Amino acid sequence: MLQGQKVVIIGGSSGIGYETAKQVIAQGGEVIIASRSDQKLKTAQAQLGPQVTALTVDTTQEEQVQALFNQIGHFDHLVVTAAETSGGPFLHTYTSQSRQLFENKFWGQYYAAKYAAPHIRPGGSITLFSGVVAYKSMVGSSALGAVNAAVSNLGQTLALELAPLRVNVVSPGIIDTPARSKMSEEARNQFYATLGSKLPVNRVGRAEDVAQSVLYLLQNSFVTGTVLHVEGGHILI
Ligand SMILES: NC(=O)c1ccc[n+]([C@@H]2O[C@H](COP(=O)([O-])OP(=O)(O)OC[C@H]3O[C@@H](n4cnc5c(N)ncnc54)[C@H](OP(=O)(O)O)[C@@H]3O)[C@@H](O)[C@H]2O)c1
Repeated sequence: MLQGQKVVIIGGSSGIGYETAKQVIAQGGEVIIASRSDQKLKTAQAQLGPQVTALTVDTTQEEQVQALFNQIGHFDHLVVTAAETSGGPFLHTYTSQSRQLFENKFWGQYYAAKYAAPHIRPGGSITLFSGVVAYKSMVGSSALGAVNAAVSNLGQTLALELAPLRVNVVSPGIIDTPARSKMSEEARNQFYATLGSKLPVNRVGRAEDVAQSVLYLLQNSFVTGTVLHVEGGHILI
């Protein structure tokens, strides 16, 4: 149970972060969701209920991240699902696009961990987000694979450096979330069906699958420095 615990979820307005917020609330926890878009936050807050606080932050802006945690004060658990990712052929992708991936997904999580840690109460934790392309090379994911690998490594080093604060990393496989809303519905369904049929579990993931793994990391006080792979056996194929 997370009764009496305050959980900050940056990225909580969508996908895995949103589902994590739902599961934390179901376990009796108090939730603060944060992301860039006021509109997305308002919609999520309306669905999650009045006990949720919503705050805007752009994690690429170091001073905004620092101000966010100064405003929040003491809390128990940080989860960072915030990311905007992209891919493309190595030789034909603008370097600026790859740098932007690092700005958003790596530096965003770095700032969040750095400015949150001093505010996290004893017994608390940090959960960061990597991804399967760090562990299974895929064409078109050179920069994203490197970003994810960097996040995993950051999390494991922080588990030593910030101890006894626990720090873990979740590495999702392909999960059906709004992250792929730019694809047409037809192309997305085709992609999920084709990949799902190849996975040992015979389907792609749902946000709930990954949220469950976050809840486990928040609550198991003997787990730190782990990279938890939630990917339906994708690395094996
Ligand atoms: N879905 C997958 O297949 C998959 C696979 C591997 C890894 N992952 C990883 O799992 C995590 C969650 O992904 P998801 O599928 O749940 O994504 P999602 O549905 O697109 O949600 C991403 C969230 O991050 C927020 N966000 C993006 N950039 C931000 C920034 N600079 N500052 C603050 N908030 C920001 C977005 O809201 P705003 O737009 O309002 O900022 C949104 O709430 C990510 O790290 C993703 O890379 C996902």
